[in-house]
Amino acid sequence: MQNRAMTDPRLAVIVLAAGQGTRMKSRRAKVLHPIAGIPMIGHVLATARELAAVHVIAVVRHERDAVAEAIGDLMPEAVVVDQDDQPGTGRAVELGVAALPGSFEGDVVVVSGDVPLLDAATLSGLIDAHRRAAASATLLSAIVDDATGYGRIVRDGDGALLRIVEQSDADDAELAISEINSGTYVFGIAGLRAQLQNLHAHNAQGERYLTDVVAMLRDAGGPVEAVPVAEPWIVEGVNDRVQLARSAARLNAMIVRGWQLAGVTVHDPATTWIDVRATLADDVELLPGTHIAGATTVAHGARIGPQTTLLDCEVGEGAVISRSDATLAVIGAGASVGPFAYLRPGTELGADGKIGTFVETKNAKIGAGSKVPHLSYIGDTTVGEQSNIGAGTITANYDGVDKHSTVVGSHVRSGSHNVFVAPVTIGDGAYTGAGTVVRKDVAPGELGMTVAPQKNVPRWVAANRPGSKAAEAAAAASGTVERPEGTD
Ligand code: UD1
Ligand code: CA
Repeated sequence: MQNRAMTDPRLAVIVLAAGQGTRMKSRRAKVLHPIAGIPMIGHVLATARELAAVHVIAVVRHERDAVAEAIGDLMPEAVVVDQDDQPGTGRAVELGVAALPGSFEGDVVVVSGDVPLLDAATLSGLIDAHRRAAASATLLSAIVDDATGYGRIVRDGDGALLRIVEQSDADDAELAISEINSGTYVFGIAGLRAQLQNLHAHNAQGERYLTDVVAMLRDAGGPVEAVPVAEPWIVEGVNDRVQLARSAARLNAMIVRGWQLAGVTVHDPATTWIDVRATLADDVELLPGTHIAGATTVAHGARIGPQTTLLDCEVGEGAVISRSDATLAVIGAGASVGPFAYLRPGTELGADGKIGTFVETKNAKIGAGSKVPHLSYIGDTTVGEQSNIGAGTITANYDGVDKHSTVVGSHVRSGSHNVFVAPVTIGDGAYTGAGTVVRKDVAPGELGMTVAPQKNVPRWVAANRPGSKAAEAAAAASGTVERPEGTD
């Protein structure tokens, strides 16, 4: 949340997010495609929040309900305005401005919802330049190698900004210009209000272009200025999925670097992904192929990876998680997970506990020092402290209609290859035998076991698999392990 005391009462931000995003070829609105774990437009709104503008307005149209809902989640104080069927960035800003109080005086920043890497420091610099020059419009430009698709910045012989020409309206000389309009502007509200009324749609696209306001303001006395950004990628828009991946990789590289400087060891930045809402303490170690996703928090000294994804998890100090996948799980201090564990929502592993190899857990609270080391499914279960669940144990929590709970006490030793048929309780200090199907509660200190007698059939192999390697091996061994006929 913004700090009210710091709010700039003379600053409004309009975020343009009504466009269709055709080149994404997606059923989802472009600005809702995630980057670093939040919708693209979330980065733009976060930047707007950092500017502490008194009004933030988002103009929407395409996939309107989904976009408006996301904006409501990301920035409840933002005002959502619907664009009508008049197309163009000029129309979008006109409707955004109409949503500002008539009494508003100051500057309006216009940004696009599909330019996720534009940071508040760059925008603050633009606002400062605009205010220092008492300009009527100041925009961010960029010098690029390939200007295709962008509006070009047209300057006179002295380098003063004349106007912006869109690609589809430009002549050959204008098309050769390498300085482009980033679509990021600061306008004085009075001039903007006045000139928006003069916009027309007499251009190749039949749209009301916001860009035309710049030349109109200049003709009305200006001053107007275009300030090139330090590095073009800062204002790179996302129009297709190639640019989506590129922006995501750039942002990730910055996030990883930030955590490295904050004391996190990242062995392979190129394959380590850290979402923007994740937090990591000092001396955390991330091995290659690790994704710290969502609002995951990782405490001091934990070691994560390789090949691990943690979504919305809480990892305690010194925990070790290897080659695993976890969602909405809490992993205690000093605990160990994996290799190859799958922790589903509601897993809570206590301090120094273990969820080991090929183990799946769901809604499972496993107490301090307790271990589920090998080949298990543990669901809808609570385990006390210092218990050991034998290899290959399955909680049969689902009867085909309802889910049921398993309760295992503290200091329990369950045998290998058990089935705990829920609802069932195994008391403190109880044991179960190997291969037990636990259908009845086992009281504290009892041994629960399924007694299914084993029967051995003598000379079965010789009779049923004559001539096989097994028969040969048995014959060779029979001299030493000959059994009397008829024994079990
Ligand atoms: C616009 C600029 C162009 C600039 C480029 C930078 C205009 C006329 N041209 O072109 O000079 O180089 O951005 O990327 O402004 N939008 C609406 N309502 C609309 C149309 C667009 O809200 O009716 C929003 C889009 O969702 C997007 C932004 O405005 O966030 C820019 O729209 P886009 O269609 O990408 O503009 P360009 O044609 O690329
Ligand atoms: Ca664009």
